[in-house]
Formats: sequence, structure tokens, C-alpha cells
Amino acid sequence: MTAVRTKVSLPELKYKFTDLEPFISADLNTLHYTKHHQTYVNGINQALEQHATAQAAGDLIKCVELQQNIKFHGGGYENHCLYWDSLAPQAVGGGKLPEESSGLYKAVISQYGSFDNLIKLANKALAGIQGSGWVFICKNLNNGALEIISVYNHERPSAHLRPLLALDAWEHAYYLQYKNVKVEFFSAIWNIINWAEAAKKFDA
Ligand SMILES: [Fe+2]
Repeated sequence: MTAVRTKVSLPELKYKFTDLEPFISADLNTLHYTKHHQTYVNGINQALEQHATAQAAGDLIKCVELQQNIKFHGGGYENHCLYWDSLAPQAVGGGKLPEESSGLYKAVISQYGSFDNLIKLANKALAGIQGSGWVFICKNLNNGALEIISVYNHERPSAHLRPLLALDAWEHAYYLQYKNVKVEFFSAIWNIINWAEAAKKFDA
């Protein structure tokens, strides 16, 4: 029996790119989504296809060689899906802190004292990435605590960390609009963070 594999595709977004302006310009997001994210869609589909062929042929060496491509493009694909999910236009609550009764709100206050402190630490982690990478705000599934982690390239958080928010620190995420001043992008993005979605993921 041949296994049926469904190709991945760009996720459907719940907002228009003009709705995230002025914090992220429509031009920047269009490029990010239709070119960069699309590259990872194509990359992971191709790598999985090649892997299926190699596996069917019993070519273990080829399967091993393909792991890096699967990791890079698969991570790039998944991280970007999370990134779009982490954003929302202000008109539908982007930038608005989660309900005070939510588990996420309580965890932030108890661990960091305030959302400002959490944001400060996340921004420090973003600024500290040398080259390309991501910062995730995660829930540690072992103890329920929040963790801010940074990764290089398109690495993923460890299995015991559930990412609630994904922040893209690749140059392609800001350069078209913010040029070399990446700290301005990192400071602007909090105006359109989808905290309600993060709170949902915290409770999931
Ligand atoms: Fe990106």
C-alpha cells in the first residue's frame, strides 16, 4: 500500500496585510508571505517527496542526507505559520493584553511582574540573535511555566515547550521597512501581537 501524503501549502490568514499597518507595511508582509514563506512550502514539499522516493528505494544514506533539508524547510514552514498566528490587526484586538482572568495573564504577572518586563526580555532575546533566528514565548509543559527562548535559523522549540508566540528575527522580516534598525521593528510588533490567541494556546 502506498502512503498518501498531502502537500503543505501557505496557511489561510485571518487578516489582510494592509490591516497590520503602520507597524508592518503591506508590502513587507506580502513579500514575507508570498516569497519567503512560499520558499519553505516549496522546500519542505520537495524534501518530503525526495525522502519518500529514497525510502521506497531503500536508500538509507539518501534519507539521512535529506534530514537537514526537512528540518530547515519544515521548521521554516511551521515557524512562519505560528508567526502569522501571533499577529492580529488592532481593530480585532491586536496588541491588547489577554483577559486578566486568563491563565496566560496570571502566569506573566506571577513570573515577570508585568507584561512590560516580559516584552523587555523578549526584545533583549531578539536583539541578541546574531544572524537569523526566532524568539518564542513558550509554555513549559512539564511545569506550566513560561519561557522565552531563542533559536538560530529555523530550529524549533524542544518538544516539552509549547510555543505561544513566534517572533521572526530574520532580516527578511523587517529590512524592507525598517532597514538596519531592527530594534524599531521589535518594538513596533507588540502593537499587533495576538495575545488572545497566545492565551488560547496557553490553555490548550
Ligand atoms: Fe520570516
